Amino acid sequence: MPRVFSGIQPTGDPHIGNYFGAMRNYVRLGEEYGKNAIYCVVDLHAPTNPGAYDPARLAERTFEMALANMASGLDPEKVIFFAQSHVPEHTELGWLFTVITPVGELERMTQYKDKAGKLESIPAGLLMYPVLQAADILLYKADTVPVGEDQVQHIELTREIARKFNASFGETFPEPKAVLAKDALRIPGVDGDGKMSKSKGDASTLGILEPMDSIWQKLRVAPTDPARVRRTDPGDPDKCLIGDYHKLFSDLPTIELVYQGCRTAGIGCVDCKKMLMQGVRRELEPLQSRAADLRADPDRVRDALATGARLAREIARPVMEEVREKVGFLKL
Ligand code: TYM
Repeated sequence: MPRVFSGIQPTGDPHIGNYFGAMRNYVRLGEEYGKNAIYCVVDLHAPTNPGAYDPARLAERTFEMALANMASGLDPEKVIFFAQSHVPEHTELGWLFTVITPVGELERMTQYKDKAGKLESIPAGLLMYPVLQAADILLYKADTVPVGEDQVQHIELTREIARKFNASFGETFPEPKAVLAKDALRIPGVDGDGKMSKSKGDASTLGILEPMDSIWQKLRVAPTDPARVRRTDPGDPDKCLIGDYHKLFSDLPTIELVYQGCRTAGIGCVDCKKMLMQGVRRELEPLQSRAADLRADPDRVRDALATGARLAREIARPVMEEVREKVGFLKL
């Protein structure tokens, strides 16, 4: 049965990279797949981020990430939506997958190398991270995984793990494919320093729940095309963050206007940023107002996650029974 799975870490406030790169696809595919669309706040992955993990805040961040997804349009009545730590089968399958995954493959993962390179002592969990991710997906025999481009390598590894398991223990899992948001593969950070990323901190991100004045303060000072030194210099909107963001937030006439204006020096960067802000407001203000409603009624979020965990386990349990039998455990 075709099935969608995706996960998002509760390591910080969700940003427009998460939103355009993945979360909007969760909603779109949720409309199509209904209860065969399964989404998860992956709180078990969070402690592998040494800088961003704080046990005193994990529960709150998990709640906030769930709330943000619901405010973005994810309807927990339509899809299955839960927190990973409420479904212990994820870790059980993850453990079994560690046995068939070569350490060399894990050491090749770009995200591992990036994160491990900054640490003196590397926790084994950081290396095992993509194994747990494979278990997240395959526990539901999902074949479709909406993610941003940075996760593609992990999905390829998931396919390898599925292949290897099937070859060793008999046909069990599908080989899932990543679904990318074509217009938002890798959204750049507002500080101009590579990909927008929760782990790089506040200066890199525009939060979807961030107050408008704070978003504006970041946009106001955001770098633009470095060739455009003076207001009268023509610029190249394809080399400009603000140009990239316009493609996400603005309507076509505005995009044409600012692109043309930039190339001919007909519009200054500040005006271009102000026009971008209109699109930002149009997209994010309704979302933020839904978030405020949910915050006033937190049980809606908690109840949704409780129901979601129950439904997820109904799928996960029989899959684990099948796996246990194939792997050869004693059945009582
Ligand atoms: P995470 O929490 O870092 O990010 C959540 C989703 O947002 C996408 N994303 C971006 N897309 C475009 N531009 C960006 N700048 C950008 N930044 C983030 C990510 O690609 C992701 O889709 N390992 C995963 C979580 C995970 C998972 C899973 C995903 C755990 N188990 C199973 C899919 C299936 C992660 O760290 O995502």
